[in-house]
Amino acid sequence: MERVARLVVLVSGSGTNLQALLDEIAATGTGAYGAEIVAVGADREGIEGLARAERAGVPTFVRKVKDFATREEWDAALAGAVAAYEPDLVVSAGFMKIVGKEFLARFGGRFINTHPALLPSFPGAHGVRDALAYGAKVTGCTVHFVDDGVDTGPIIAQGVVEVRDEDYEDEGAALHERIKEVERRLLVDVVGRLARHGYRIEGRKVVIQ
Ligand code: GAR
Repeated sequence: MERVARLVVLVSGSGTNLQALLDEIAATGTGAYGAEIVAVGADREGIEGLARAERAGVPTFVRKVKDFATREEWDAALAGAVAAYEPDLVVSAGFMKIVGKEFLARFGGRFINTHPALLPSFPGAHGVRDALAYGAKVTGCTVHFVDDGVDTGPIIAQGVVEVRDEDYEDEGAALHERIKEVERRLLVDVVGRLARHGYRIEGRKVVIQ
């Protein structure tokens, strides 16, 4: 039997991308999908993302920045908590923190993030709002490996979403929902392909084997 990749998913909010992964794995089976979620981590308590994991019977952990004397200590604690689950891939799915050196030293090259804009445009915490403010006519989502910059790592896949005139009326809420529909499908597809086929990172280019 093929080996099933172990995933740790990190969340900070509603966790609909996490839910899409949980649903796909439940529907397809871990063997056919090629991956299982072994734990879900967060930087805060009381979020729907953690509740989704608990309902699915997946172990959870929380490491809050304010519980540590320094950002480096928090980063090391987060890395330790993730490492305890021996993941093959770590997925940042709406995790709104930048990880530090230790985390990247341990998980660089197998840590992926999903971002609600077409990188390298509109990196950072407000990808949807910034694309609208710029007047972009198309935007979308990007799944990429995480490096030591903010949303600068090698791109794995992107999905395109058109901006509509009415998107300016609700500060991008409806646009973000349309992006998230594309994003959930993209993330589920990318994670499954990485897990089943393996991959190489050649400079900026990601090759799924
Ligand atoms: C997603 O759109 C993700 O791209 C974004 O947060 C949302 C989380 O949704 N992440 C960022 O903006 C990171 N810079 P979810 O909690 O429903 O999966």
